[in-house]
Amino acid sequence: MRSIFWESCSVKLIDQTKLPEKLEVVECRGVDQLIDAIKKLSIRGAPALEAAGAYGVALSAFEKEFSNVEEMKRYLIEKAEKLKNARPTAVNLSVGVKRVLDSALKGRSVDEIRKIALTEAEKVAEEDVKRNKMIGKIGAELLEDDDVILTYCNTGKLATVDWGTALGIVRSAVEVGKKIKVFACETRPLNQGSRLTCWELMQDGIDVTLIADNMVGTVMKKKMVKKVIVGADRIVRDAVFNKIGTYTIAIVAKEHKIPFYVAAPTTTFDWDKCSDEVVVEERDPNELIYCGEKVLAPKNVKVYNPAFDATPLSYVTAIVTELGIVWPPYELNVPNILKNK
Ligand code: MRU
Repeated sequence: MRSIFWESCSVKLIDQTKLPEKLEVVECRGVDQLIDAIKKLSIRGAPALEAAGAYGVALSAFEKEFSNVEEMKRYLIEKAEKLKNARPTAVNLSVGVKRVLDSALKGRSVDEIRKIALTEAEKVAEEDVKRNKMIGKIGAELLEDDDVILTYCNTGKLATVDWGTALGIVRSAVEVGKKIKVFACETRPLNQGSRLTCWELMQDGIDVTLIADNMVGTVMKKKMVKKVIVGADRIVRDAVFNKIGTYTIAIVAKEHKIPFYVAAPTTTFDWDKCSDEVVVEERDPNELIYCGEKVLAPKNVKVYNPAFDATPLSYVTAIVTELGIVWPPYELNVPNILKNK
């Protein structure tokens, strides 16, 4: 099953807040419901958000009746703005929204706009799956038999429409017969690693070992890890934005001379920007104070809870994209690969 799909005038998605306990599909009949699902991370991961943004614009075209095209276009623009701002860091969300909105606004009747929006949104979803398969195929070349990969957060089927980016590389390597083991960091505070990565890999019978985030140094020092592969939410001229904690892993990997790879589609690049221009989402303090119902800290404690960090490109061994592997110097090689987009 795909993480997100269109069915009978609604957007359906696997509710990732329920995993690994329950595999539940949520039906969003309106774009505001989809925006809530994005905000609470029922759907998450940069490429999955690109599809969510795309389907969201289509949903806003179908969710109500319009008396004329102008009214419809105004409505689409207003909802697209809300969708884009649901989460600010992963550039893919606004890429998906913009692509479908720009196409839809070319329509000349309500029906034509609906048709264009849905066709374009389905294309965004299909292209994501194709890109991930390419990232997997290309990235699998970097992996050897008996490799042990450390990964962070969740970059698999759930974080994309299907297959995955960093986990897609692992999947593709296993598919061609390589023996690969994975260390999944739990990824506090929302545990995308323990809840989602472990669940996905175990579903596919891929060897996974869960570690707490603070065990990374130890497994690297003990030479238990051969390579790191992580995903990305936005790649700018000087850094890779990804789940908070990625930067720490990159530093420890460099110290231990372990290759640190990033896997991402070219839609994750925002090469005209530098890291100080990117908004890092800050999330609810309760994500750190509570674990479900359980209170983990004094309720009135001061909390700092950024969702992402920026790893300078100097820590990145290579970036695997659907168009090929990009090696340093990135200032030269990234523009070269993006030309072929
Ligand atoms: O807050 P999340 O769970 O949306 O964060 C996701 C990540 O940081 C992923 O590593 C990134 O989006 C790449 S997913 C292929």
